[in-house]
Amino acid sequence: MDADEMLATTRAVRKRLDPSREVPENLIRECVDLALQAPAGSNVPRTRFVVVRDPELRAAIAEIYSDIYLNSYRESAGYIGRVEAKDAGIQQRTARSADALERALHEVGTIVIACLDGVRLDGSPAFASASMLGGVLPAMWSFMLAARARGLGTCWTTMHLARERDVADVLGIPFDTVQQVCLTPLAYTKGEKFGRADRPEADEIIHWDRWDSGKLAAPPMNGIARVSS
Ligand SMILES: Cc1cc2nc3c(=O)[nH]c(=O)nc-3n(C[C@H](O)[C@H](O)[C@H](O)COP(=O)(O)O)c2cc1C
Repeated sequence: MDADEMLATTRAVRKRLDPSREVPENLIRECVDLALQAPAGSNVPRTRFVVVRDPELRAAIAEIYSDIYLNSYRESAGYIGRVEAKDAGIQQRTARSADALERALHEVGTIVIACLDGVRLDGSPAFASASMLGGVLPAMWSFMLAARARGLGTCWTTMHLARERDVADVLGIPFDTVQQVCLTPLAYTKGEKFGRADRPEADEIIHWDRWDSGKLAAPPMNGIARVSS
C-alpha cells in the first residue's frame, strides 16, 4: 500500500475488529516506535501510550465507555446519528457502527490510550492547548497508520474522557499531571480492504490567501458540553 492509499483509506474500524486474533506485543512496539517520529513541541516527546491488555482492566474501561455512551451520549444532540450530514444514509450507517463499538469494546484484546505527560489543559488558553495537544495528536495518528500497515484496525475515540478521572483511577494514571487524549481499540481487521470516506472536495475547504466566508462552513458544535461530566 502506498502512502496516499493509506492516508485515504485508514478508517475508524469498529465492526470489522477481529477479537479472535491476538495482536503480538512486538507489533505494538513497532507502532509506538514509528509514532515517536512524529513532530514533538520543543523537541520533547510528551506522548505516552498506555497499552491495556489485562482483561479485567479492559472490562472496566469498556464499562465506563458504555456508561457514557448509553446514558449521556446516545441521547444527546451530539450523537452521531443526530448530527445533520450531506448524506443521511451514510451518517446513519456510521451511527450503527459507533453503536457497535460500544457493544464490542469489552471483547477487543488491546486498548491503547494516548496521554499527554506533564500537564493538564483544563481551562488552558487556546495557545497552550493547541501547542500541547499538538504534541500528542500527530503521534497518535502515526500510531494508527503504522497499525494499518500491519493489518491492524483502530478507531479514534474520546468518549471515555467524560469520565477521564475514573479511567485514570483504573489504570493508575496520575490525573493531575497526565492528560488522556485519545483511546483506540487495537485488533486485526476482518479483511484488509477499506475505502475512502465521503468528505468535502478540497476546494470547498481551502481558503486561498484569506479567510473566505463563501466556503463550506462547519455545523455548530453542540454535542461536547452535553457529554462532559
Ligand atoms: C476527536 C475525535 C473523537 C472521536 N470520538 C469517537 C468516539 O468516542 N467513538 C467513536 O466510535 N468514534 C469516534 N470518533 C471517530 C469518528 O466517529 C470517525 O472518524 C467518523 O465516524 C468518520 O469515520 P472514518 O474515520 O472511518 O471516516 C472520533 C473521531 C475524532 C477525530
